[in-house]
Amino acid sequence: MLNGRRVAILGTGTMGRALGMGLVSSGTVAPSAITGTVKHAAELEASRGLVSFDLSLDNAGAVAGADVVLLCTKPRSARGVLAELAEAGALDHDPLLISICAGVSTAALQSACGDKARVVRAMPNTPCQIGEGMTVVAPGLRATTEDLETALTIFRPLGRALQLDEEHMNTVTGLSGSGPAFVYVIIEALSEGGVMMGLPRSVATELAAQTVKGAARMVLETGRHPAALKDDVTTPAGCTISALLLLEDGRLRSVLARGVQEAARSAAGLGSES
Ligand SMILES: NC(=O)c1ccc[n+]([C@@H]2O[C@H](COP(=O)([O-])OP(=O)(O)OC[C@H]3O[C@@H](n4cnc5c(N)ncnc54)[C@H](OP(=O)(O)O)[C@@H]3O)[C@@H](O)[C@H]2O)c1
Repeated sequence: MLNGRRVAILGTGTMGRALGMGLVSSGTVAPSAITGTVKHAAELEASRGLVSFDLSLDNAGAVAGADVVLLCTKPRSARGVLAELAEAGALDHDPLLISICAGVSTAALQSACGDKARVVRAMPNTPCQIGEGMTVVAPGLRATTEDLETALTIFRPLGRALQLDEEHMNTVTGLSGSGPAFVYVIIEALSEGGVMMGLPRSVATELAAQTVKGAARMVLETGRHPAALKDDVTTPAGCTISALLLLEDGRLRSVLARGVQEAARSAAGLGSES
């Protein structure tokens, strides 16, 4: 629980909504203690129908009463939004700033706020919306131990959360931030294999998704190495090893690993202003 502290969500798009609704459904923050913002008036009405907390177009107004500011705009807008708030004096009450913007360093965020801000950088992912997210947080120079604990209090109920040094944040972005998209493609592809062999699509998708979920829980809950768990499925001369060799011929393993490497590399460049 955030003990009555108020939260402003600047940028209530896909992730801002996922976090806001996750905070409400986990009971961490009451809807009445959250104010979200969007940029375009045309988006305001549509977005209002998707969340249970107040939404406005007024960043300074939302930040004015907030103890914690969650910055969830696109990376290229992040510094401009903060600089505007700092210039208007809207950050003078020194709220904790938690940014989920990919590729934007705590130093850049702090400098945009006039160097005084306490900043924590976080990288969550979309499954936070259903309490199955993965979030990594990294403290900026002025963030205190209590600030870090506040950030973990926000993200822990949304799934798993841990702390790492900031140098790892672009890699985290490429792995667990982008990762759900990679896994959806894998689920879709497994399902297509089932459809190709005659299963109804809905059944194939359920089989594929539950198989990914079960395998992921085996890794997390048994603590065994994925390779050892794979060996359990691989009967000598059986159908699984036959298929695994085909997947190795297609370089599945290095393609996935290189995908994470590419997403991390790309994340590092996202913070530049347009
Ligand atoms: N999507 C993911 O899976 C994911 C995962 C981890 C981290 N992130 C990070 O989360 C951030 C948001 O990504 P997203 O996918 O949620 O993007 P998105 O859906 O495009 O949402 C961006 C939101 O920011 C609002 N916005 C833009 N400029 C603003 C301003 N000046 N003041 C207030 N609000 C403003 C937009 O409002 P309008 O709709 O009115 O333009 C929109 O609601 C990015 O920095 C990204 O790196 C995303």
